[in-house]
Amino acid sequence: MAKAFAPGKCILFGEHAVVYGHPAVAVAIDSGVEVTIEESDRWTLEGIPFDSARHPHISHILDEVFLYDGSSLRMEVNSGLFSAAGLGSSAALSNAMGAALHSHTKPGEPIDRVELARMGHSAEARAQQGRASPTDTATSALGGCVVVSGEQVEGTRHVFDASLSTPEGDRSWSVNVVDLPSDMEEAWLVIGFTGEVSPTGRMVAGVAQLLKEKPELETEMDAIATITRAGLTALSVGNLDAVGMAMDACHEKLQLLGVSSPSLEALVEAARPHALGAKLTGAGGGGCMVALTREPQRVAEAIEVAGGRSLISGLGAPGVHLL
Ligand code: PMV
Repeated sequence: MAKAFAPGKCILFGEHAVVYGHPAVAVAIDSGVEVTIEESDRWTLEGIPFDSARHPHISHILDEVFLYDGSSLRMEVNSGLFSAAGLGSSAALSNAMGAALHSHTKPGEPIDRVELARMGHSAEARAQQGRASPTDTATSALGGCVVVSGEQVEGTRHVFDASLSTPEGDRSWSVNVVDLPSDMEEAWLVIGFTGEVSPTGRMVAGVAQLLKEKPELETEMDAIATITRAGLTALSVGNLDAVGMAMDACHEKLQLLGVSSPSLEALVEAARPHALGAKLTGAGGGGCMVALTREPQRVAEAIEVAGGRSLISGLGAPGVHLL
């Protein structure tokens, strides 16, 4: 039997601006996806016959990455993430599946997180018609705090470059990591799920359309990049108050880009009295918000009272690993 776990992710700064080459900062969260595989007399997923067409991430990893032609497998997937909510659940699934298959086919050989990040990215691209940034898969694979950008960002450590041919042309990204200070135990993220799924493709297209109609909004993109750099500096020295302020400022800019929603606003407002900062996270238009706080239970309660579902996490969980 082989078992692996990969964390989900939360974007702290830079969503949407990253599409235009600016940096984005994401952290791995404590919740994620656990995959168990075991040889069996038939192919099953969650106890029912495995239908590869319905699970493009899994079938891509099995057939195109591992060229797997071994015995049938019984596969179990346990997710602690809200799905289609901007927490990177499909990336975590790809990474955990890749790690479990690696352990099954090459027992005793250590996993290579960069290889898994690349594999996860290709699975995401395959499942999303060629459009996928490496943010989710890299953060889930490497863990900690990851900065994805069109170019290298000062104060970060370069890990690998990713590229992809998308329907809109060739894209490339620099994937970097930042070491978080070890004394951040009192800092918690509380993620609030609106219950509405987050349509990433539609939100990205909406922002592109808005920028065409109002080119002056380009300055807001530049402002997000400035806030992202300031937030990253604050994060790397453990200045939580400044991280929170940068989160609030980032949320204001995202509002101007039209990607917030009434449900996100309600959860952000509910969290703020007990938070250092709060913002929507990911594509917006639904999905999740995130608050930084020293009082995670109070913020989680406030989010639940406002109609959201909450999830508490530390910042920068370990990346994909075997169990
Ligand atoms: O909601 P998510 O995790 O899919 O976040 C998308 C982040 C965007 O910047 C909006 C899109 C992207 O590809 O980076």
